[in-house]
Amino acid sequence: MRVDLQQAIRLLKAGNVVAIPTETVYGLAADATNDAALRQIYAIKERPADNPLIVHIADISQVENWAAEFSPLAQKLAKAFWPGPFTLVLPAKPHVSSIVRGGQPTVALRVPNHPIALQLLKESGLALAAPSANKFTQLSPTTAAHVTAGLGEEIAVLDGGACSVGIESTIVAVTNNQNGENWQLLRLGMLPEANIHALAGVPALSFKQTIKVPGQHLLHYSPRTPMRLFTSREDLIAQANSRTAALLLSSGAVPNCTYFELNKNADDVAQKLYDTLHQLDALNAEILLIETPPNAPEWLAILDRLTRAAA
Ligand code: TXA
Ligand code: MG
Repeated sequence: MRVDLQQAIRLLKAGNVVAIPTETVYGLAADATNDAALRQIYAIKERPADNPLIVHIADISQVENWAAEFSPLAQKLAKAFWPGPFTLVLPAKPHVSSIVRGGQPTVALRVPNHPIALQLLKESGLALAAPSANKFTQLSPTTAAHVTAGLGEEIAVLDGGACSVGIESTIVAVTNNQNGENWQLLRLGMLPEANIHALAGVPALSFKQTIKVPGQHLLHYSPRTPMRLFTSREDLIAQANSRTAALLLSSGAVPNCTYFELNKNADDVAQKLYDTLHQLDALNAEILLIETPPNAPEWLAILDRLTRAAA
């Protein structure tokens, strides 16, 4: 069911959930201070209760409502990357609902860079908890139609067009220890790690996380159709037949089956990736043959999502 901005505001204020556009993927939003509304998010998504939600805020001034500490490093990153596809995990204030935190001592915060999401946050005065608007482990939605296809016609959707980034936000935790401030990359996104490193002045702490990231199961972001990844085009072509479909990420010889070709730059592929996987899934093939992207930093987030989808 499509709703307009004013209907979305009314529904959210009354404790209902509404799917909203952001620049990364559509989120299933609810008032982050309303536990009953938050429980609906977990129920609709069939998401485990220990998998925390990101709280979307209108601007940086709202961080103090949620975070017990907003260290100089965290402030520097927030100022540089918000609004944008960047989420900060910070120590939570005690009043922050343990439902939104998934039982963690921290809270994840993001100012999204989407005109409708920002208008919604500003006009409603709400902070919105919003995980991606898909069932647990399934493909994230990048259009209003994807949301309805995945969650059903009864879910209210605020249509903001196709998402411009197309892959979930980069998540960074900022922590303090005796050696000073550190940062850890909890989830790869299209904001390059090098940009964060440059600003922070220090590299990320070991990618092997020292803090718990409950949502990052290897099985994630998956189409219903099984997927197999190929580094070699020849091997992919050798597996193609009438019961397969393929995703190609470069030019060259093509397989003898239905295929989609996304062979531009990484930003462009990211923007179209989930929509293309949704379309491939709809073909009801026996298996999807997926070409892995080039081995370069700007492709890492895409490789991460494809690896999880194929797990
Ligand atoms: O781009 C995005 O981040 C989208 C849009 C809607 O903002 N949201 C999104 O939410 O991808 P979700 O719930 O699908 O993924 C959020 C992930 C969780 O799986 C979890 O790993 C991590 O964020 N997370 C949230 N709060 C956390 C916390 N307090 N500590 C560690 N990880 C946290
Ligand atoms: Mg998700």
